[in-house]
Amino acid sequence: MANVTRLCATKSIMTVNGEFPGPALVAREGDRVLVRVTNQVSHNMTLHWHGIRQLRSGWADGPAYVAQCPIQIGQSYVYNFNITGQRGTLWWHAHISWIRATVYGAIVILPELGIPYPLAAPHEEVPILFGEWWKANTEAVVKQALQTGGAPNISDAFTINGLPGPLYNCSAKGMNELVLKVEAGKTYLLRLINAALNDELFFVIANHKLTVVEVDAVCVKPFTVNTLVISPGQTTNVLLTAKPFNPKANFYMSAVPYSTIRPGTFDNTTVTGILEYHNPNSGSASSSFDKDLPLFKPTMPRFNDTGPVTNFTTKLRSLATATYPVIVPRSVDKRFLFTIGPGTLPCPVNMTCQGPTNVTRFAAAMNNVSLVFPSTALLQSHYTGMGMSKGVYASNFPTAPLTPFSYTGTPPNNINVAKGTRLLVLPFNTSVELVMQETSILGVESHPLHLHGFNFFVVGQGFGNYDAVNDLAKFNLVDPVERNTVGVPASGWVAIRFLADNPGVWFMHCHLEVHTTWGLRMAWLVLDGSLANQKSQEILVCLVRSRLAFFRFSVIFVSSSFICLPS
Ligand code: C2O
Repeated sequence: MANVTRLCATKSIMTVNGEFPGPALVAREGDRVLVRVTNQVSHNMTLHWHGIRQLRSGWADGPAYVAQCPIQIGQSYVYNFNITGQRGTLWWHAHISWIRATVYGAIVILPELGIPYPLAAPHEEVPILFGEWWKANTEAVVKQALQTGGAPNISDAFTINGLPGPLYNCSAKGMNELVLKVEAGKTYLLRLINAALNDELFFVIANHKLTVVEVDAVCVKPFTVNTLVISPGQTTNVLLTAKPFNPKANFYMSAVPYSTIRPGTFDNTTVTGILEYHNPNSGSASSSFDKDLPLFKPTMPRFNDTGPVTNFTTKLRSLATATYPVIVPRSVDKRFLFTIGPGTLPCPVNMTCQGPTNVTRFAAAMNNVSLVFPSTALLQSHYTGMGMSKGVYASNFPTAPLTPFSYTGTPPNNINVAKGTRLLVLPFNTSVELVMQETSILGVESHPLHLHGFNFFVVGQGFGNYDAVNDLAKFNLVDPVERNTVGVPASGWVAIRFLADNPGVWFMHCHLEVHTTWGLRMAWLVLDGSLANQKSQEILVCLVRSRLAFFRFSVIFVSSSFICLPS
């Protein structure tokens, strides 16, 4: 725990090693990474390495009750994984309840030694982490929402590298914002990470353009924008070229939320950092903000303007070169259609709820199934062969909506979701096409969907209801962007393809934490292949070791090991 003061109030927050944001994990492609996590807070804990492929090492992935039982108070767990075929910016965060509000940090994967970046080396590299800050304890915020069935309280501020900036009350300029110091004529690589809980963000630097070169640790064809869009879970590398001569001015770098949901409240505030020019020969590298210089503020898009979002996302294309090829599945073994969106659950009898009506609670689902976590971990129950036989999960996640309707039209009368622990089972190496269709139930909203264990290709997106004939014909199989988190457009759909070449149980969920909490989450079970290198071998090694332990210790240990202990 660490005491942190923001917006004139001090609170005790969970951190990694006392740092907020947490330390950057810097590694090289090809490295094996070992992170020993010791839980010294009074809450169960797990960490997730967001975007790391975790080839055959699902037990190091981190989502609580999916990949592992949470790390108990006072206990340790070693995350042990390889970084294979990835380079760029990713991030890590706690993956239990809303603890990632303060427990997060950057992952920087450098290319293998001797292999250059596919672009001119920047003068400097700067991680820029967007976060979201509540004056209240975020665990109390989510707990209250779950009790009342209502929407959780909105945040009080956004942050850049943990700092809210000068546009908030109690944020004295020159103390409480990120100051990015640049030299005229130099190029900087900004590693942008959206670690906010519930808000997609627009980001603009006044009077400066940004060149997008990479998303989710995959190179893209470079393109230049004024306004950038980044959703929770996503990372974006951009090049910022400073003005050729010192402009004798300062520039705001600002982020505001993109939010279309109506009715509904959201944190409509602006986080700001400052871009400052320095003369390398003046020896003033540490001088602080000069308030006598003019200060330029950027023009931000309106909070509900989908135009710049579509404009930005449709520009993202894979490099598709010999060195960085696009390996998009051209033939498809399995096609799936998932509806994505909120719904309701009935309010318990004798209770008044604060859902859309006072007899309902907010919920959310994919194909109307709201995933209920088991009291053990799905991956462990699968590999011990107990998953199905003990009824931990069923294998019948719907491959398409059970009762089709006009998804972006008038909602059906009954908008209740079903609860269930149902996995979608894929044989090893299945090539998958998944269309995710937003539903306009309870309002139109975009959802950043994140898939663990894989990168996927975004082969199509559009507005309205997906048309399996005409839309399919227009898919981009030449240079689709490859990533791990994609926005399902408000009142629209997105189509992705991936090859299920990684055995394990893989979580997929909306990266808006409020929606994950409400149940907008599911899991894929990818079976082992027949060859030795197509199995989660390391998991078997772990199990062999724990079986030995079973013999040495008691029968009680055997049975309790399949239920995660409570916090
Ligand atoms: Cu970044 Cu399942 O999360």
